[in-house]
Amino acid sequence: MEFLGLPATLVALLASFCFLLILILTYAWWVSPFLTHNKLKRCGFVGPNPSFPLGNIKEMKNNKNIKSSSASTHDIHSQVFPYFSFWQKSYGKVFVYWLGTEPFLYIAEPELLKRISTEVMAKRWGKPSVFRNDRDPMFGSGLVMVEGNDWVRHRHIVAPAFNPINLKAMASVMSESTNEMISRWSSQIKIGKHEINVESEVITLAGEIIARTIFGLKDESARGIFNRLSALQMTLFNTNRYVGVPFGKYFKVKKTLKAKKLGEEIDQLLLSIIEARKASPKPKGSQNDLLCLLLQENKLTTRELVDECKTFFFGGHETTALSLTWTLLLLAMHQDCQNQLRHEIQQRLAQHNHVIDLAMLSSLTKMKWVMNEALRLYPPSPNVQRQARDDIQIDGLTVPKGTNMWIDVVAMHHDPELWGHDANEFKPERFMEDVNGGCKHKMGYLPFGFGGRMCVGRNLAFMEYKIVLTLLLSKFSFNISPTYRHSPTIMLSLRPTHGVPLIVQPL
Ligand code: HEM
Repeated sequence: MEFLGLPATLVALLASFCFLLILILTYAWWVSPFLTHNKLKRCGFVGPNPSFPLGNIKEMKNNKNIKSSSASTHDIHSQVFPYFSFWQKSYGKVFVYWLGTEPFLYIAEPELLKRISTEVMAKRWGKPSVFRNDRDPMFGSGLVMVEGNDWVRHRHIVAPAFNPINLKAMASVMSESTNEMISRWSSQIKIGKHEINVESEVITLAGEIIARTIFGLKDESARGIFNRLSALQMTLFNTNRYVGVPFGKYFKVKKTLKAKKLGEEIDQLLLSIIEARKASPKPKGSQNDLLCLLLQENKLTTRELVDECKTFFFGGHETTALSLTWTLLLLAMHQDCQNQLRHEIQQRLAQHNHVIDLAMLSSLTKMKWVMNEALRLYPPSPNVQRQARDDIQIDGLTVPKGTNMWIDVVAMHHDPELWGHDANEFKPERFMEDVNGGCKHKMGYLPFGFGGRMCVGRNLAFMEYKIVLTLLLSKFSFNISPTYRHSPTIMLSLRPTHGVPLIVQPL
């Protein structure tokens, strides 16, 4: 017997295959998320009603606030996460929302976070699979995304590269690149161009610094990686995509293919740098870069090295650049603080024979408070994510295995219940006597994340921040340009939508 010219057995086989596929997809996209949702509900975690297949994405897109606000307010939560701010009013600081068919436990409550994290060892944490897949072209299986025993292995290999002794050698690279930028600015100012978009300038500077600290490179290939990573970021995070929605990536096929292609090009560039380095291990000037340190360990495969370099490149330059950018804006708004910081720099430089070394940098105490405060008001990494790889028991409640968690760092950093009535004011002195800035809960201040997965590159970031700021404040004064529009937004990191144009005057 035949059906449409096909033998009956083949038709039966195709029909069974389709039936099985429908069953699997129904389970994956509907039954399994529904069961997880019910478990969360039984634990008292409620939230806005999701619809199939978008979850709550529609409300999130409709609730996008793109208005500029006055720069004098640092109360940015409702501007950068309007949907979370809206849902908080109905459901409080912990609730469940959905990205497509993926439920997320939203947390802006440090006590719950503390209780959850005391139950889970760092290696037992996962990262939401939906982001792992989506961000693969950017991070691959680098330290940010890797899980379980692989994470332990990577972390043990990577962490020593960031110890202060290894970082010491990178200080001169940082000063050199910053001085080159200062020369460019000075030439520009000489011909009357005082307005400088410090955001794009400092991002380019940090891109150059990270390329030099990872591979000792300051050439076309470094610029090639940097340009492609920026394009990749725009492709992945500056478009209306449907993360978590079944077949979501096919809604924007062009973007998905572009991201894939850019990811492959970056991999190829990194691969050729690593292969060349393996063939001739120590080219001049590269003895102390991060790649050299990782190659000495000889414990990562070439593919793993590519992913780690990509992770450092992306995770390391923009976050640091944004912490500097927001700081320059805050200092332009608070001239008294800018002057105090400049005074501190002059004093410390004089005490250390005008040498910028680790001892001089660690004596910059006011600068540390300013950095902490800038990271509080404008955290470059505005959220931290986790996935439960096992059921988590807290006070008789169960957070089921597979639950995604979205920790809203911006919300906690601006919460008056944690910081007091002046939570949205710029007050670096709150860090004068308390490393936690007087926050009522030690898990309420998380610019570098928490637990064993806390940022591995933070010492490098501190050093770069202090060197760049020391050199800039020694040469220039900064004022806000009348063209500045205050409009912080999320593009994976917390960025100023229209850049940060400042009026720069030589001292
Ligand atoms: C001001 C600058 C920086 C900020 C605000 C920042 C912030 C963060 C945050 C919030 C996390 C997530 C932690 C968690 O999941 O608990 C993280 C992880 C990470 N960061 Fe940074 N970071 C900065 C600079 C850097 C630099 C300079 C590098 C490297 C060159 C770097 C490399 C990494 C890596 C590899 C991870 C993953 C760590 C792990 O999961 O074990 N970061 N960072």
